[in-house]
Amino acid sequence: MVRLPALCYMAIATGIVSAYDPNLGFKGGPQIENRTIDEIYEAAVAEGGIVTVWHGGDEPGQQEGLKQAFEARFPKMTLNVTVDVSKYHDGNIDRQLATGGVYVDSAILQTLHDYPRWDNEGALLHYIPLNFYNLQPSFREIRGAWYGITVVSWSIIWNKDKIAEGPKEFEDFLKPEFKDKLVLTYPNDDDAVLYAFDLIMQQYGYEWFEGLLAQNPRWVRGSATPVSLLYQSNTTVVATFTSSVGLAPPEPLGIAFPTKGHFVTWPQRAAILKDAPHPEGAKLLHNYLLSEEYQSSQPTWSVLKDIPAPAGYDDLANIQSTNPNGFEGFMADRERAERLRLFFEDKIGTPQGLSPLKDDL
Ligand SMILES: *[C@@H]1O[C@H](CO)[C@@H](O)[C@H](O)[C@H]1NC(C)=O
Ligand SMILES: *[C@@H]1O[C@H](CO)[C@@H](O)[C@H](O)[C@H]1NC(C)=O
Ligand SMILES: *[C@@H]1O[C@H](CO)[C@@H](O)[C@H](O)[C@H]1NC(C)=O
Repeated sequence: MVRLPALCYMAIATGIVSAYDPNLGFKGGPQIENRTIDEIYEAAVAEGGIVTVWHGGDEPGQQEGLKQAFEARFPKMTLNVTVDVSKYHDGNIDRQLATGGVYVDSAILQTLHDYPRWDNEGALLHYIPLNFYNLQPSFREIRGAWYGITVVSWSIIWNKDKIAEGPKEFEDFLKPEFKDKLVLTYPNDDDAVLYAFDLIMQQYGYEWFEGLLAQNPRWVRGSATPVSLLYQSNTTVVATFTSSVGLAPPEPLGIAFPTKGHFVTWPQRAAILKDAPHPEGAKLLHNYLLSEEYQSSQPTWSVLKDIPAPAGYDDLANIQSTNPNGFEGFMADRERAERLRLFFEDKIGTPQGLSPLKDDL
């Protein structure tokens, strides 16, 4: 009893955010950006010219394109980007929050459920960037605590040099010609892949999965690894459905989105940490990510309402076989996700091999 006040002081002094409920401070109103992007640039340069972002992903160089584009547009800035799987990044952000040593400015992750939790802990900046109200309404938190910055989608992908016709629906993966020729990410290693298996098996039943196992697929870690293996001419694998190459696939890859089967799309979320050491740098990055200039250069569905789908594709809102808002609820139900994960662990074993960030595929 006597020690309680001392602990409270310690919690406050070290910035432990869960020591009280910040919501009842009723101070959730956002800062509303009213500068031009070049004025924000000036402020970011004056602040030190750097922004540290932790980005979800499974290959170290995956955000080189963003770094190059950002630094080309803002030559006095450095984008200090670290890619790791979201499920590891988030725990390391929690540790920074718990120890009061926040050094990440911006978090762009697939673990959508972390964002409401962090916001409840008072960890996120409420900030409305310039293009905020052009976002699809369901992709934005009303006080700007987080928002989607890009739509990620798992497509069916095959190597056209290896097969004349790729699979178009999930049922096609059970055809005899794909025996020993499929490469898939462990569903029990990546929750967005787990969601794909959940959608498919709710639709096609357990029998579909038995048929898939009979095809003897090669299971790998990381959603980018199947694509790396598909590219290689010396591998036997020809197709996957647990990866993304955007909507304009590089040769010799072909892609398809099922029209009958339910496929995975989600808006990757971004937030600025309230105690970010470079808030102006983070604001600059987020304003850039939501700019028409950046959004229209990306080979995927835009998170902005006014930017049409890339040539040859329907707008996301018109596609019946996916719901980009479904993933959030899937991620938020950790008990259900855990049950699913252990179910697949029983059937295909624990993920084998190094982290996809550390292997050479
Ligand atoms: C611009 O935003 C700042 C910070 O939110 C605010 O203090 C200021 O009043 C705003 N200026 C205008 C002209 O709205
Ligand atoms: C760049 O990011 C890394 C990893 O987050 C961090 O350790 C490092 O301090 C950052 N560099 C600077 C100059 O802020
Ligand atoms: C297959 O080719 C890749 C280059 O495309 C090479 O890195 C790899 O070592 C080769 N693997 C085998 C088993 O020969």
